[in-house]
Amino acid sequence: MPRESSGEVPERSGDRQTEASQKVSLRLKIRRYNPEIREDSWWDEFDVRMLPNDRLLDALHEVKWRHDGTLALRRSCAHAICGSDAVTVNGRNRLACKVLVKEVAPRCTVEPIRGLPVLKDLIVDMEPFFAGYRSVLPYLVPEEGEPDKERPQSPEDRHRFDDTTKCILCACCTTSCPIFWGDEGYVGPAAIVAAHRFIYDSRDRVAQERLQILSAKTGVFRCRTTFNCTEACPRSIQVTKAIQEVKRSILFDRF
Ligand code: SF4
Ligand code: F3S
Ligand code: FES
Repeated sequence: MPRESSGEVPERSGDRQTEASQKVSLRLKIRRYNPEIREDSWWDEFDVRMLPNDRLLDALHEVKWRHDGTLALRRSCAHAICGSDAVTVNGRNRLACKVLVKEVAPRCTVEPIRGLPVLKDLIVDMEPFFAGYRSVLPYLVPEEGEPDKERPQSPEDRHRFDDTTKCILCACCTTSCPIFWGDEGYVGPAAIVAAHRFIYDSRDRVAQERLQILSAKTGVFRCRTTFNCTEACPRSIQVTKAIQEVKRSILFDRF
């Protein structure tokens, strides 16, 4: 049986009573997993009362703080910046802090993102994801020697990789990719986005090295242009376009 919210109504403030009257019901169906209790996962349901403009993350907090303190989830900023609260909501990868209750009420399912080992409830082991990220040299390697003042770059050159600078490493893209689900060796779209950001940076000098890494069988040619990654990205990065650009640079040695 779903566990019900206490529905507490503040007694002293008229404003808070009005707020309580605006609340809507949300039934959360959450996939649970705790290897210390049992081997397989199971579903739990919770009924909460939330304001329409509350975030799904607030609803998960409501569950954790008032219903079941054992619920495990990851989050930090609550403002779509840190990328730590990616979950699968009604089958789509989202940041829990970027989904409004009114978008999903009266019911929704919340599961851990796919393709990574689940540690507990909504928390996955991000290490395979970050291993792919690290493998593409995701940092600037400038010409040797200190510059006199700075390393200048024209607005046009900066614009070349503007889109891929927006990545927050949430893994929504990589864990929505069917190729990644089936092939742990594939570096995944987020790693390619990170590589793209530096391959096309006019101040960098190891683009060829990154292209070589991504031309291996674990690299860009594993991508089958499914577009799940682009649809999943909470930063609206054109992920598939970035992957195609990297493919073209490898094929035609042009960037
Ligand atoms: Fe998240 Fe988008 Fe970066 Fe992928 S490209 S990790 S979906 S921000
Ligand atoms: Fe996967 Fe995105 Fe390519 S979903 S197959 S990386 S277009
Ligand atoms: Fe930081 Fe959602 S908690 S992105």
